[in-house]
Amino acid sequence: MSRFFITTPIYYVNDVPHLGHAYTMVSADSFARWHRQISDDVFFLTGTDEHGLKIAQAAAENGMSPKEWTDSLAPRFQDAWRKLNISYDDFIRTTEPRHYETVQSFLKSVYENGYIYKDIYRGLYCVSCEAYYQEAELDNGNCPIHGRPVVVMEEENYFFRLSAFTDRLLEWYERHPEAVGPSSKRNEALGFIRQGLQDISITRTSIDWGVPVPWDSQHVFYVWYDALINYLTAIDYGRDLEKFELWWPSVHHIIGKDIIRFHCVWWPAMCMAAGIDPPANIFVHGWLLVGGEKMAKSAGNKVDPLELANEFGLDAVRYYLLRDTNFGSDGDFTYEALTSRYNSDLANNLGNLLQRVTTVVVSKLGGQAPKPTADSPLAVFAGEVMESARTAWSQFAPQDALEAIWSLIHEANARLEVVAPWKLELGSELENVLGDALECLRLVCIGLYPVMPDTSSEIWRRIGMDGSPEDGNALAALSWGQYQSSKVIEKGIPLFPRRK
Ligand code: MSP
Repeated sequence: MSRFFITTPIYYVNDVPHLGHAYTMVSADSFARWHRQISDDVFFLTGTDEHGLKIAQAAAENGMSPKEWTDSLAPRFQDAWRKLNISYDDFIRTTEPRHYETVQSFLKSVYENGYIYKDIYRGLYCVSCEAYYQEAELDNGNCPIHGRPVVVMEEENYFFRLSAFTDRLLEWYERHPEAVGPSSKRNEALGFIRQGLQDISITRTSIDWGVPVPWDSQHVFYVWYDALINYLTAIDYGRDLEKFELWWPSVHHIIGKDIIRFHCVWWPAMCMAAGIDPPANIFVHGWLLVGGEKMAKSAGNKVDPLELANEFGLDAVRYYLLRDTNFGSDGDFTYEALTSRYNSDLANNLGNLLQRVTTVVVSKLGGQAPKPTADSPLAVFAGEVMESARTAWSQFAPQDALEAIWSLIHEANARLEVVAPWKLELGSELENVLGDALECLRLVCIGLYPVMPDTSSEIWRRIGMDGSPEDGNALAALSWGQYQSSKVIEKGIPLFPRRK
């Protein structure tokens, strides 16, 4: 059995999740679901990133302690993911004792291996931000956020010897061309490394909302150094060697392009420094933009995924997110595009196919399903389509999988138009066209399940199939002709009534 370990970034709990976060989650969820369908042993990990200055400030702004604040926000993420049907297996909160334990043992190894040292950090500091700035980031010498003068500050910090890893990282990229995708993002990461890497400060004394440094209680680890290690906390690094070796390093990290440097430069170097293999695969997706800008709390252009799901139906939103944007590129969210996808792809194509077939089977054949024909004009095309969908799913290309599936829906609808079973007398021609269309629907349910699990399950039920499209091994179910006759078909209400 193959194993499939997939992770999402862990989200800052400075605000409730928006559609940009949901985009990462729905994508990762679709990959996890597909791999479960093909009988892989799947471990799908997500969580919340709860330490650091940003969270401490959000807590203070809301008159709460950081702990109270994160305890109130983390369930909002879990609740949102439940409502969006995200099938994660584990949820890490970085404030959990298991995570403290892992961070401390991992970084202790890095320290003992000689890659962490103490030095003085000198920098330009904004007291209001409690953060250092580079000269170039300042606005006429002032903090770009507060507009106040920065001060030159010195702090004793622990540093990670990132500079020692420039050559090793370049070699690693050379030996593992598949490690970071798509290739444009791999080149971006290589660009950072080729510039030469500087050591980085990885502890803070100016804030205590973090994981304490085990060998020096004055310091806490800088939030990124704690966050990245969540991927190891979940697989019991340092606690259960067998479990750790089962899942590591063959992991797939799904990340947004804003966090390439951390995942594709720092993280592999940290792994090397701790004496473990770097992650096998990091897939970088683009941003969901609104009016050309990244959707973000600070941009004030957030869209609430739960509101959209209430309005359009959850599966329609999941479909839109994965269908409208090539995974890896930026996508633009518009209400109009969502409405148009809904009406054209879901109401007119998928919904219509289901409605026509079930209506005719019920009205002409008393609901008794005929079987598909082995030499159907659709058989070869359907075989090719399902093969493309399978390949697309294995290459993290949900848009291509959906495009392939919709070409089958198109063909099935086109054949119905030509043969017009609603006008035919009882007989083999009527039975064949309906049996073939039902077989197309069975295949569509399998390929579509990772994106639209509820819809696929409902279509599956209406066409009289037992269980759910995720049962059995999808790879074996992809070949033409497995739909059984004598199923009882149900004509239900339209799944996607047209919208204005
Ligand atoms: N906490 C860090 C990640 C630590 S992982 C060890 C973080 N959190 S975040 O909440 O700011 O963003 C997490 C992820 O959300 C981004 O990397 C990205 O995957 C996703 N997105 C946030 N806004 C997004 C869009 N507008 N569009 C697409 N994805 C977006 O960074």
